[in-house]
Amino acid sequence: MELKERISIEDIDGKKIKIRLVEPEDNSSAILTHYLHNYNNGIKKYYEEDAREYINEFIKYKELENKVKFDVEEAIQQLLFQVENVPFPTPKNYTFKFIDLFAGIGGFRLALQNSGGKCVFTSEWDKYAQITYRANFGEVPFGDITKESAKKYIPDEFDVLCGGFPCQPFSNAGLRKGFEDTRGTLFFDVADIINRKKENGTPIKVIFLENVKGLKTHDKGNTLKTIIATLKELGYNVAEKVLNSKNFGVPQNRERIFIVGWLKDSEKSFNFPLGMDNDSNPIFKSEDLHKTKLTSVKSILIENPGDKYTISDRLHAGHLRRRKEHKEKGNGFGFSLFNGESVYTNTISARYYKDGSEILIEQKDANPRKLTPREAANLQGYDKQFVIPVSDVQAYKQFGNSVSVPVIQTIFSEIKKQLL
Ligand SMILES: C[S@@+](CC[C@H](N)C(=O)[O-])C[C@H]1O[C@@H](n2cnc3c(N)ncnc32)[C@H](O)[C@@H]1O
Repeated sequence: MELKERISIEDIDGKKIKIRLVEPEDNSSAILTHYLHNYNNGIKKYYEEDAREYINEFIKYKELENKVKFDVEEAIQQLLFQVENVPFPTPKNYTFKFIDLFAGIGGFRLALQNSGGKCVFTSEWDKYAQITYRANFGEVPFGDITKESAKKYIPDEFDVLCGGFPCQPFSNAGLRKGFEDTRGTLFFDVADIINRKKENGTPIKVIFLENVKGLKTHDKGNTLKTIIATLKELGYNVAEKVLNSKNFGVPQNRERIFIVGWLKDSEKSFNFPLGMDNDSNPIFKSEDLHKTKLTSVKSILIENPGDKYTISDRLHAGHLRRRKEHKEKGNGFGFSLFNGESVYTNTISARYYKDGSEILIEQKDANPRKLTPREAANLQGYDKQFVIPVSDVQAYKQFGNSVSVPVIQTIFSEIKKQLL
């Protein structure tokens, strides 16, 4: 019989139904959306049993409530439509598969989908980042990746693992500099996933990681050394490079370290692009960096930001006072002003929501203003269609934590050419 009432993932999210499988860490909507997103490929088997159970329980509930019969296949068709009716659906003819760890709002996913990739697993535990992720990609990320309740759903069939994992010291670092030294950190979980796939006979072809530039000097260089040693121990060649977003067509001075690992037995090597030119071609030599794509802060500013982003007289006075005090002490700290003509801004960080002091935009006849969330999105190279469904505070945190999409996309097109 026909579905009288529209069935939706929200009903399952909203726990209208009691599900036997619900664990302390509730991944039910992640399981369901991953199932639906992989409905037409072999990956669906990893999610099928649990997802079907949710759908059946849900239908039973609906039948009791409405006293009519519901058809499971029709319910699935409706749900399928919902998860693909989003701004950034799976590319039609994808050529490789990847997993998106520490996914944030999906900066890696956007870039890899643009390169023809299909995401088959994602994890991000922050509930606000999950909201943004789902609104744009139609998939709810799994929660805490250190937990078996998330890890056990990672499929075997994928080519690339990507993630910007939080940087932590390795307490035993320096002993052996390898896999076991990383236990208790989030990098250990990355290494553990790589190791499981290796032991399974389905080794991951490429590892693509991002981190703050400070990783290089973190714990006197031990942290990065241990990460590289661990990837080598797991059978990978490794290349790393600090790159600046301003060389990739976004007007932001943002330095980040990128680490690429590829299987040792592949006899390949990897050459990082250092930037991209006006035609979006990669640049490989530092002496060619003057040919980078020309842009200015004007390119990310919107027309009518609204008054609410103008900082108050009190905050402005505070900024001016601190700047004066710092100047007198001889250090340069203070707030930073930019305008449309500026070539690039400072780095936008997750703390931008506090007072915006790192990037303020000059205004005629008014106090300076903060960037709007949309401008923060533009500054990180996010597409105009990217939906921002959360509060300004959450949005600043999310874009501040994110990768610059064009940087990931340029590096990834080289990974595809050179390594996949
Ligand atoms: C630096 S951000 C990565 C942002 C991402 N690359 C993007 O483009 O939006 C690191 C993310 O890891 C998430 N995270 C930290 N620990 C986690 C865990 N145990 N399980 C899942 N996600 C975690 C944080 O919530 C944060 O969003």
